[in-house]
Formats: sequence, C-alpha cells, structure tokens
Amino acid sequence: MAHMNRRRFHQALFGTTVSLCLPRIGQAEATEDLFARATRARLAPDEYPETEVWAYDGSVPGPVIRVPQGGQVSRKFINELPQASSVHWHGIRIDNAMDGVAGLTQDAVEPGTDFLYDFTVPDAGTYWYHPHNRSWEQMARGLYGALIVEEAESGPEVDLDEVLLIDDWRLTDQAQIADDFGAMHDWAHAGRVGNWITVNGDGAWSRDIKHLSRMRLRLVNTANARIFALETRGLDGWVVALDGMPLETPERLDRLTLAPAQRADLIVDVTAEDGEEALLVSFERDGGYAIAGFPVRGKARAARLANPAPLPPNPVAALGSLREARRADLLMEGGAMGGMRGAMMGGRMMSMRDMAAAGKVWAFNGMADMGDTPLIEADRGETIRIALTNDTAWPHAMHLHGHHFRKIAIDGSLGPLRDTLLMERDETAEIAFVADNPGVWLLHCHMLEHSAAGMMTWLRVA
Ligand code: C2O
Ligand code: CU
Repeated sequence: MAHMNRRRFHQALFGTTVSLCLPRIGQAEATEDLFARATRARLAPDEYPETEVWAYDGSVPGPVIRVPQGGQVSRKFINELPQASSVHWHGIRIDNAMDGVAGLTQDAVEPGTDFLYDFTVPDAGTYWYHPHNRSWEQMARGLYGALIVEEAESGPEVDLDEVLLIDDWRLTDQAQIADDFGAMHDWAHAGRVGNWITVNGDGAWSRDIKHLSRMRLRLVNTANARIFALETRGLDGWVVALDGMPLETPERLDRLTLAPAQRADLIVDVTAEDGEEALLVSFERDGGYAIAGFPVRGKARAARLANPAPLPPNPVAALGSLREARRADLLMEGGAMGGMRGAMMGGRMMSMRDMAAAGKVWAFNGMADMGDTPLIEADRGETIRIALTNDTAWPHAMHLHGHHFRKIAIDGSLGPLRDTLLMERDETAEIAFVADNPGVWLLHCHMLEHSAAGMMTWLRVA
C-alpha cells in the first residue's frame, strides 16, 4: 500500500481505470511547485557512474507541463541550486513579467527563495522552459523541460504523442559534466559542443510501437550549441509545426535541421515491419547515429491512415504593410576567424583582447553588451522588420522573445512563423513580426556561450 500511488490505489479499489470526480479546471489551475536542485541521473550506460546534474523536480528532463490552449500555467519556482536562477518559457507569447529573463524582466531568484510564474498560454504547440540566468552553465547541467499546449479543438488523430528533448552533454570519462564552463575557446567558436547525446535524458531512448501506428513526435533541441541534422528510418511522415506554430501545409519529412532551441512537430507513420526497429538518426561529421529507437511489435492496422490535415492555426496577428514597417539592422560580428577589432562595452570602445578578458568576444551593432538603448522602440501593434547580417565565421540561432516572426525571402515571400532562426556563416536574412506584446524582449543567439559573450540585444514594445 505504501508504494501504491493514488492512481493504482483507485484502480485496485474500483478494478478499472479511474476517473476521479474532481473538477478538471480546479486541477489545471492549482499552483504546483517546480524545484530546481542537484541530483543524479543515469545519462550514460550502466557501466558508468550516474551523472551529477541539476534538474527540475528531480529528473532530466524536468516534468512535461501540459496545459490546454488558453489555459493557465501556475508554478512556484523554488530555487534549491547553489546559484541564482530563473525560468524562461521559451516560445510562449507570454506576459512580459513572466518571461523569466533575470536582469531584464525580473531579478534572479536567489538560492533558497522562490518566484511564482503564473500566465496564460495563447498558442497551442510545443514549447519548453529553461533557466535564463547563467543558462550556458545551468542548461548544460540539465535544467530544461517541455511545455506542451494542447490544441483547443481536438488535435490530430495519433496513436501516440511523444515529446523528445534532444540534448548534447559534455561528459568526462567518468560520465560527469565537464566543468570547463566559460572556456573562451568554446565561447569564441561554436559554443559548448558535447560528446554525448541523449533523448529525454537517456543515451539509448527507446519505445515500443506498432507497424502502421501513427505518432506525433515533438522534437526539441535543448543543447547549448549543437545543431542537429535529423532523419528517420522506418518512419514516414510530415513536419506539421515549427517552433510551436502550425505550418499552413504539412511538409513531407526529409532531413530536418534543428538548431538550438528550435522545435519541430512531426506526424509519422511507422512503416518499419513487425520485428524491425524504426529510428531517429542524428548525422554528425563522422556519420549517422541512432538517437532514439522504436522497436516494432505487432500491427496497428492494415493500411496507412489518410494524410494528416494541417493543425489549426494559432491566433497570431497577421503582418501589416512591409513597406511601411519600422526597420532595424542587426550586424552580427566577432568570434574566432572574424575580422572584428573591438566593440563598445560599458559605453567605451574596447579592443578584442580587453573584451575577451571581460568574457566578451561577439558584438551586435558594434556593442558587446546590451546597453541602455533598445535595438527598437516599437509602438504596440506595429509591424517590424529586422535585417540581420551574420558577418562571422559561425552559424547562429537567433531567438526573439515574446513574438513569432516570419523570414522574408528575397522574392518577398514569407516563411513560416518561428521564434528561432538559424543563420549560416556570412548569411543575411530579414525577419518581420507584429510587435503586439508590450514589454521588453530579448533578441539573442541561442548558442548560449555566444549570447553570454555579446550576442544579445533587446527591444521595447510600448
Ligand atoms: Cu530559450 Cu532567451 O531563450
Ligand atoms: Cu551564436
């Protein structure tokens, strides 16, 4: 009895799956705690010791927080870490005071204290949460989790809905997290790229499925800096959403690039036969590795289901006139093998060497710190265009808080709604969005070492 959880207890009592007679609304709106504390996790195979991690609610990843669209997330964040922290709800168009950016929208939550995050979620889709204070260390130690907002109308028909948080760890030969945080070499190059990939905190994640069953896979790249190039084997299907936002038309799934912080929702049918194993494969420089396995046991049906319909669109404002939009330029510079000689810091011009001594190696518009003036002061509801130029030798994953944007192609056509844009070296891109969420919002590289070392700016929406 002591080991029986409530559900099992009720099942034993009633001999059937329970439906507790509690109002669901009451459950969804109750405040729950979200603890951050040190613990251990089995990231590596059994012959290695467990890894000392920092985690939400004692597990890597943290709990999947699921809410209905339009519902409320109410979590008291309790910081039991040895460092100040905060929780950012990535991709959710949120009340600015709840955005979790330490130093901008709130003070960092000191060890031994707490902060109540309480907000409504306007958009259905796949989102996630992570610290926004020393995130380059805290996320590398295991602090992240998924925030899933269920479609208000019934979602797509699937047999299984799986969240796959894909992470990249830098582990020592004892399977402990390498504590070389702040290594300038990482900061000036590709960021902290690791040597051990997990899905949902497991180096060999696997789940049994049936032939011709249909799954919704919600992929999230939670790595500090690694860009994943993903393919499937024995799974055939479509990309139906990117960064939480439904695509107008599902796209056939081929190779999928997932930069840090990006998400993709897939709908896939299991085409591998009974007895085979379907795979999610990550392509690295030296070949492809299966990072998640789906052993096929049995058959779900005799023929494939019909092609999926698009997911219902989220209530994101349509762009206004692009010709009359307020414009800004963002020049991204610095890093190793870039030509940057120096940048402004604390209001004065600094050489690259002095910048590096202060932990900065990148700059946005010639500034290595955020400064007091935002990149843009927008009126509420205004359409904004930002032309980004990646004048560095590295790719970057540019993330805008509080809004989703579209990329404007050279021919003027508009890309899908996203919150994080991968830019290759020397690439230019232009994005547009409606600044309809009042407050102060970051625009930064989600390669966490890059943002810490200068790739961060902000905008204000009146
Ligand atoms: Cu995923 Cu500024 O954050
Ligand atoms: Cu970057």
